[in-house]
Amino acid sequence: MINAKLLQRVVEASNDGIVVAEQEGDDNILIYANPAFQRLTGYQVDDILYQDCRFLQNGDRDQPGLAAIREAIQNGHPCRQVLRNYRQDATAFWNELSITPVFNEADQLTYFIGIQRDVSTEVETQNRVRELEAEVAELKHQLAQLQNKA
Ligand SMILES: Cc1cc2nc3c(=O)[nH]c(=O)nc-3n(C[C@H](O)[C@H](O)[C@H](O)COP(=O)(O)O)c2cc1C
Repeated sequence: MINAKLLQRVVEASNDGIVVAEQEGDDNILIYANPAFQRLTGYQVDDILYQDCRFLQNGDRDQPGLAAIREAIQNGHPCRQVLRNYRQDATAFWNELSITPVFNEADQLTYFIGIQRDVSTEVETQNRVRELEAEVAELKHQLAQLQNKA
């Protein structure tokens, strides 16, 4: 069985953000955030404790992934979504957020774990591939029209 000190070192060594949140009314307030969360977001951990992570959205609330996250929290289910988030310096990044419920021995939902990964490069590459595919389709269409005329 892994001891608590080693477990803490493991969580602190993670390259992905790891947070623990506790339900308080409609909010899930942060009670722990690891150093990678600080590196990813630019926020000092001490400045964001006891806040709900929605501050990372900076008011950018029109995102389809948020409904799925809300529903998972209400039902105590795990969920993974890619969200548009903003660092403390207001620069945007794509955050692949994975949340997982933690239950106590009485099977009551006590906490959620959140794991955050910056997937900006992957999302931007996918978007560029889609743009290029659309351009190729348009060029093929134009070529077919020219061939029909010839
Ligand atoms: C453990 C945990 C971690 C979360 N991490 C993030 C995050 O990194 N970025 C984010 O935009 N939302 C995050 N959320 C989601 C928000 O806290 C909130 O649940 C979401 O915005 C939907 O609820 P709302 O519509 O009340 O804001 C996290 C939620 C939980 C439970």
